[in-house]
Amino acid sequence: MSNYILGHGPNMMKRFKDRSLEDGVSFIEPLLPDSGIVVDLGCGSAVLASWISENRKKTKVIAIDRELSLIPKDYLERRDNLLLVQGDAYNIPLYNESVDLIYMQALCMYLESTESVLAEAYRILKPKGKIALRNSVSVINNMGQFVNDDIFEKVLQYTLKKNNDNPRVAFNISSLLDCTGYSNIQMKTSIESSKDTDDIQDVARSTIELFKSNIGDAAVQDHILSETDRRDIITNLETWSNYPKAYNRAIWLEHTAEKA
Ligand SMILES: C[S@@+](CC[C@H](N)C(=O)[O-])C[C@H]1O[C@@H](n2cnc3c(N)ncnc32)[C@H](O)[C@@H]1O
Repeated sequence: MSNYILGHGPNMMKRFKDRSLEDGVSFIEPLLPDSGIVVDLGCGSAVLASWISENRKKTKVIAIDRELSLIPKDYLERRDNLLLVQGDAYNIPLYNESVDLIYMQALCMYLESTESVLAEAYRILKPKGKIALRNSVSVINNMGQFVNDDIFEKVLQYTLKKNNDNPRVAFNISSLLDCTGYSNIQMKTSIESSKDTDDIQDVARSTIELFKSNIGDAAVQDHILSETDRRDIITNLETWSNYPKAYNRAIWLEHTAEKA
């Protein structure tokens, strides 16, 4: 059974959107300052940044991503306390000691060097400013009853390498925060569990897309996968998505810490 995060194609965006809002809000809400500056780094569709700006009018929210095309245009028009910035997490375009809270959800696993980004976050935080990170470490599901596990695992490993996607980096975050100089480091786990038909269909669709996409083509070209296996996996994933006992669980590590 696979214990990795599955494909991140465009079909994943709705799920990211719903998940980042529900789970993101319950994690971030208790940490929000009454006023001040909050940064959502690697904001994706900026759905969480938008929620904060709507619900904390006295807070200025700066949502940063190197890719802004996922952000709905009306976010730009609706509020004056939400600023969308195209920028790189390794070189955050903000002054030293200017931010009260910096939040990163599902970013660290794509970074070549999480430690450099944690140091950049430290630089822009005010003394006693807070950092909050959510990273999913694994997905557990019962697709394995339908797809050939060995082939599936090989393709996932191949994909993760191509995407520079390393969920295991989340396990090191406490010590990276410690080395960077953060204090009051805390970690908890949350489990996102779903048997919901739409969610299962969405997981299946995004995984099928992985096999149909250019990653699937490359896997065939590199002889990781045969064309027949690719077709079988796609059919079997469709079967799984209609299986009444299909389930999917994601495990998240949530870290909070403070600048000394
Ligand atoms: C999986 S998405 C998470 C989006 C959002 N935080 C959420 O939870 O829905 C990861 C995001 O990180 C962004 N990203 C990756 N590396 C980045 C970097 N070096 N600087 C800024 N953004 C980056 C990607 O463009 C993408 O939008």
